[in-house]
Amino acid sequence: MQNTVIAPSILSADMSRLGEETQSVLDAGADFIHVDVMDNHFVPNLTFGPIVVKALRDFGIKAPLDVHLMIDPVNKIIPEFAEAGAEYISFHPEASKNVDETLEIIRHNGCKSGLVFNPDTPLDILENTLDKVDMILLMSVNPGFAGQAFIESVIDKLKVTREIIDKSKYNIRLEIDGGVKIENIKKIAAAGADTFVAGSAIFGTKDYKSTISLMREQITLARN
Ligand code: DX5
Ligand code: ZN
Repeated sequence: MQNTVIAPSILSADMSRLGEETQSVLDAGADFIHVDVMDNHFVPNLTFGPIVVKALRDFGIKAPLDVHLMIDPVNKIIPEFAEAGAEYISFHPEASKNVDETLEIIRHNGCKSGLVFNPDTPLDILENTLDKVDMILLMSVNPGFAGQAFIESVIDKLKVTREIIDKSKYNIRLEIDGGVKIENIKKIAAAGADTFVAGSAIFGTKDYKSTISLMREQITLARN
């Protein structure tokens, strides 16, 4: 299993102070920054484009930016996110005509590639793509909005995915996204996730440092 990563989703940050908010969660112990890109077409919400990723880099944010594309189509805009400073770029297979090609475009542009599975999307496609994937992202809510409840059936899906990764010879991250909070993160870690996105559960609290530390404590408990 890869090292533990906590990736606050800036979807829940105070947008009027995005640079400061991002730096605050990093100072509080976050590892990656999760950037939820929505297009009001693939999902019913509209958020960030490459200029926001570039703005965060220009502000001085050095941490890996984990860009989660909830957009259709995806291929054409990948180089722009890469150029802007993304480290990981993930997309939903439903949004690509050729998943292999999209994964290759991401790596070709110098980024790490991620495939995202909605709660109801089967994992079949993984069988032939494991060699091209750096991260598997399991959605534990239906994408579009922060603050939704964690869908419990994803716990079993996490366990299955962890087995698939462990049986393969690849170093693939297993990320979980949606409804993650202090109260359920231990169970999620025990099921095999190593990369934890949390939006409202971090930005909705006053003390980011204590929230992230409590999350880490719970993850450590799950590992022992
Ligand atoms: C949902 C996004 C998530 C979301 C997480 O479409 O992909 O990253 O912002 O928010 P919380 O942690 O509040 O569920
Ligand atoms: Zn996300």
